[in-house]
Amino acid sequence: MHEKKIFLKEQEMPRKWYNLAADLPTPLLPPLGPDGKPITPDMLSTVFPMNLIEQEMSSNRWIDIPTEILEILYRWRPAPLRRAVYLEQYLKTPAKIYYKDESVSPAGSHKPNTAVAQAWYNKQFGIKKLTTETGAGQWGSALSFACCLLGLECKVFMVRVSFDQKPLRKAMMMTWGGKCVASPSPETEIGRKILKEMPNTPGSLGIAISEAIEEAVADKTGKTRYSLGSVLNHVLLHQTIIGLEAKKQLELVKEKKVDVVIGCAGGGSNFAGLAFPFVNDKIHGKKIDIIAVEPSACPKMTRGIFTYDFGDCAGMTPLLAMYSLGHGFIPAPIHAGGLRYHGMAPLVSQTIVEGLVTPRAYDQVKCYESAILWAKTEGAICAPETSHAIACAIDEAKKAKDEGKEKVILFNYSGHGLMDLMGYEKFLTGQLQPYSLSDGELNDSIAKMKDLPKAKACKTGKW
Ligand SMILES: Cc1ncc(COP(=O)(O)O)c(C=O)c1O
Repeated sequence: MHEKKIFLKEQEMPRKWYNLAADLPTPLLPPLGPDGKPITPDMLSTVFPMNLIEQEMSSNRWIDIPTEILEILYRWRPAPLRRAVYLEQYLKTPAKIYYKDESVSPAGSHKPNTAVAQAWYNKQFGIKKLTTETGAGQWGSALSFACCLLGLECKVFMVRVSFDQKPLRKAMMMTWGGKCVASPSPETEIGRKILKEMPNTPGSLGIAISEAIEEAVADKTGKTRYSLGSVLNHVLLHQTIIGLEAKKQLELVKEKKVDVVIGCAGGGSNFAGLAFPFVNDKIHGKKIDIIAVEPSACPKMTRGIFTYDFGDCAGMTPLLAMYSLGHGFIPAPIHAGGLRYHGMAPLVSQTIVEGLVTPRAYDQVKCYESAILWAKTEGAICAPETSHAIACAIDEAKKAKDEGKEKVILFNYSGHGLMDLMGYEKFLTGQLQPYSLSDGELNDSIAKMKDLPKAKACKTGKW
């Protein structure tokens, strides 16, 4: 009999986060300020608290997880590692498919891992209110939950298309005391400007980020800060608890080697959280295929360019060296709202430049087909974002079958889809079409980045 659920005890939960910046074969390019020069910590201090800015810039390999944060994470962590034996049987594959189940958190995804940490560090710094953006609503729910536990106010700008597709996410945020408005909103200058120019826009994460930053820096009491659910180094750092737990769990079932590691990627945080401890193994000689999966509607890693670009639509963030489709890019209103982001985390982008990570793009229809197969074999209904990782795991399991190899595949089950059923309904009633970004739209968006500073793609050439 194969073990299908592998648990760790609370005492076995990792006590430190892993910082890939310490092991990257080529260093990250620094974020740049408006003058084109590398930013200094104080330039970020109206947006983030200094303790998180220190983490953002840290090159220490291991960073202690404060006991108070561990105490909150115990509510659902360590998260189970599961084996998808029913899917394996259906596919008749010799591959073993393991997945880290991040859907068990109160908000239903990996997002609370960093929400709790960010709310805690903000509170330590004396902050009373956090503002943020949300795509699918997972991040807004997670931060509302974390702020509720830590006694902070929370205001969420939710991308218009998701606000309309997932109205009950707002109810979740309200249950935890968060306030949620659709973005673009009439509540900020940038929101009003965009609404005037494009009254029917579906919105984008880039716009919602601009609104949330504007509201945070407008608070002259200095007690409000902005919190980002992905992309930045400290966010990816907090998520590494996923991969560190997975390693311990694989050891428990005597798996000595992982062949393929997979995660879907919006801004890169759940992918990095699972993959970075394995990227470290790859840097140190192990042979692992590490795959980041994006939607073909928002293909920044597979068709975007490596460049300096802003993290938000209005250009309020520093310039980050990353794969991007352009900060003004508004992706098609697909149902995987959390993957509708124009850029990719600088740390993940650098692993792609280096050849340590391979990006892949899947279309939404293939992803929904995989989600339905998953539900019919494994039982659970996954988030539309997560279905991209599942589609890739299925392809890799079929490949192992063709090659006759008993490979070990590990992917991140980043969230459940119980708040995303409108997308399933659209798919099941034939209302969703395959969608890929056209070359024309891609080239127009990339052309708009021509005046941004160029990012030099440095790599060792080893991978
Ligand atoms: C369930 C789920 N998976 C994946 C993502 C993508 O974000 P990230 O790339 O930061 O993990 C999101 C974002 O909202 C999400 O809700």
